Amino acid sequence: MDVISSPAETQRRALELKRAGKTIGFVPTMGFLHEGHLSLMRLARARCDVLVASVFVNPAQFGPNEDLDAYPRDFERDEALCAGEGVDLVFYPEPATMYAPDASVWVDEDALSGGLCGSARPGHFRGVCTVVAKLFNLVQPDFAVFGEKDAQQLRIIERMVRDLNFPIEIIRGPIVREPDGLAMSSRNKYLDEEQRRNARCLRRALDAAAALFAAGERAVPALRSAMVELVESTPGARIDYVEFVDDASLVPLTEIAEAALVALAVGFGTTRLIDNAVLSVY
Ligand code: PAJ
Repeated sequence: MDVISSPAETQRRALELKRAGKTIGFVPTMGFLHEGHLSLMRLARARCDVLVASVFVNPAQFGPNEDLDAYPRDFERDEALCAGEGVDLVFYPEPATMYAPDASVWVDEDALSGGLCGSARPGHFRGVCTVVAKLFNLVQPDFAVFGEKDAQQLRIIERMVRDLNFPIEIIRGPIVREPDGLAMSSRNKYLDEEQRRNARCLRRALDAAAALFAAGERAVPALRSAMVELVESTPGARIDYVEFVDDASLVPLTEIAEAALVALAVGFGTTRLIDNAVLSVY
């Protein structure tokens, strides 16, 4: 497995591999890898000649008061985990080599990015789209795998690929959870013991909505109240949002006629956790 920091060298390698007719699969990450990330690598490994992963804590997607500096990092461990999953090349750039000091071109998605995590994190998806577009240009993948854990991000990347004609297939990887249902996240490590126990409420709220939905409830206010009550009765949990949106357009719904993306963000202390599920009538 090779570790390359230079963007130019990564692109040179990728273009060489393409010329040799190799299929490149790509899993972009911000590192501090867990089973969720590794599941995406396994999905990708099975369908490409060359598997590339990136480890880059992208400053452009963090707001001024967010956890950029505190974001957990452990590259040695990440490197070993990538090697264990059969990754061929890890792209591990320095921020200064990814963004020129006078960088002035950004990728802005302006239909799906405003709600959900976008309202609490202005500029976040602009940073995500920009770095993913740059990574696509550097890595030249045939396909890239993104996790359903970040449902809004996934849909925005799919939209970017469609609207900017990237010749790249986006593959969705299912959410990987801890045994008690908490979605795996690099940020879970910020939780103290009590917060970690209470963090189960995100999945439990989604389960409560799914149970009502299975029993025939289609009205969003009723489904939403069940979730809100469950989270509000959990010590230390602070709701950022609980939303039911159209699975494709992310427009808020009052009733589920087809498929709804149910997404929530809940704060525990300074840690913000997200989770989601799709409720579909089909
Ligand atoms: P990061 O949070 O490191 O996540 C990298 C990828 O792993 C994303 O596609 C994310 O959805 C997926 N992932 C995280 N937790 C998961 C879980 N529990 N189950 C399944 N997949 C999971 O998302 C980012 O980094 C960045 O925004 C990035 C796309 C790399 C751009 O900087």
